[in-house]
Amino acid sequence: MSNKDMQQTIIDAFNYRHATKRFDASKKIDDSDFDTILEAGRLSPSSLGLEPWRFLVVQSEDLRNKLHELSGGARGQLETASHFVLILARKNVTKSSPHVHHILRDLKQYDDDSIKAFGDKVEGFQTNFHINDNERTLLDWSSKQTYIALGNMMTSAALLGIDSCPMEGFDIDAVEQLLDDEGIADMKEFAPSVMVAFGYREKEPKEKIRQPQEDVVEWL
Ligand SMILES: Cc1cc2nc3c(=O)[nH]c(=O)nc-3n(C[C@H](O)[C@H](O)[C@H](O)COP(=O)(O)O)c2cc1C
Repeated sequence: MSNKDMQQTIIDAFNYRHATKRFDASKKIDDSDFDTILEAGRLSPSSLGLEPWRFLVVQSEDLRNKLHELSGGARGQLETASHFVLILARKNVTKSSPHVHHILRDLKQYDDDSIKAFGDKVEGFQTNFHINDNERTLLDWSSKQTYIALGNMMTSAALLGIDSCPMEGFDIDAVEQLLDDEGIADMKEFAPSVMVAFGYREKEPKEKIRQPQEDVVEWL
């Protein structure tokens, strides 16, 4: 494909994507298409490469019903989406967290010296950026990373002709409690970050309105 064609494909995908409120519940996403969307999330970049996320694919009707009660902004999507993902952000990702050690030692096979050097880098960076001021700032930093995965998943879906909707319209404390009560994830380690639904549109969306490029881009 030429660059010109690729440019058009990319722009078409961004125009195609819209926040889908209801999906055609009779249409299911093909397994390999959905796996590609998950891969787009998994392969996403993250600060210092620490991948502070987990993707819960919520297909259980029972769990969707429980989330429905707690998610005013996600009701239509929970009822109709082919696939529904709740993205969790990891808590307390610092140089001394077990997760960081797992990534460095088990995954990246760093030796002790490299782990120590990397730990110093993590600490220096997190201090400079006020990331490790408190648990809240640490969680916000992890959450930010999950939104990169979120964006990549939605764009990949759009390229495959699949609709999506990102959602923060849920009671975050109640969802955290639900996940804890159901033993789905350890809420000492994770917190809900954002939801995203996938499927095929029930009806055509309204025209996309955005600020013009000259209002949002400044060349210096
Ligand atoms: C982080 C985030 C949270 C959002 N939360 C919700 C939500 O809870 N429910 C919903 O229907 N739409 C939600 N939206 C969709 C936005 O309202 C929508 O993306 C925006 O109005 C632009 O419209 P478009 O995506 O159709 O172009 C959310 C979007 C983002 C990026």
